[in-house]
Amino acid sequence: MFDVRHYETIDSTNDEIRRLMAAGAGHGTVVHADEQTAGRGRLSRVWVSRPGNLYMSILLQPDVPVARRSELSFVAAIAVADTVRALLPKQARAMLKWPNDVLVDGAKIAGILLEQIGDATIIGIGLDVLHAPSDVGYKTTSIAASGGIATVDGARDILLARLEQHLQSWQQDGFAVIREAWLDRSYPIGARLRISVQGATFEGDFAGLDPDGALLLDDHGERRRIVAGDVGAA
Ligand code: BTN
Repeated sequence: MFDVRHYETIDSTNDEIRRLMAAGAGHGTVVHADEQTAGRGRLSRVWVSRPGNLYMSILLQPDVPVARRSELSFVAAIAVADTVRALLPKQARAMLKWPNDVLVDGAKIAGILLEQIGDATIIGIGLDVLHAPSDVGYKTTSIAASGGIATVDGARDILLARLEQHLQSWQQDGFAVIREAWLDRSYPIGARLRISVQGATFEGDFAGLDPDGALLLDDHGERRRIVAGDVGAA
């Protein structure tokens, strides 16, 4: 279902998707670049984008209301976690951190940036294949540093295959099945979490995801519903 366009260098694959959209590109267009000169992450952070890692954006215009498109960040996260697990030795532990980071033994290996433009959703994915960027303010790892063997193109192909599979199940069966798959790959229920939300910090026991994908946190009998924030282990 994907039409992959490959570039050596681009500012940001998400931005190239926007330009291609303006020129008529549609559902299933994929931009893959060897390096980005202006890669960006969530919360306007820089995404270090040297050659050797995967930088890819996917344009989706599924027949699903725009109000439900944030669910795609969970669909993408599951596909990335499956890819990482497929490329790493069995003993390495890849898990999801809400909403869509992929960690291996507590270090970030991939990030996902979802952007909505009109009826189009752009899923930008950065996956550290050969290098783990340093000095980014959190622990990072890569497929190579975690004992896996992969090429960037190989990682891209596995990721697109998994994404296609999970997109199909999302469209056919809805979000509930994706939510369950996400929970299977994330913290155990009851794990103690600390969450920063716009300068405030909350601590509590992980109580799952609500039907919209918000994170549920129990603290002294009170249930908090978190729709945006940064999660760390308490
Ligand atoms: C995060 O902050 O965790 C999200 C990082 C997303 C990075 C990817 S790399 C491909 C795509 N192009 C970008 O400029 N950003 C995303």
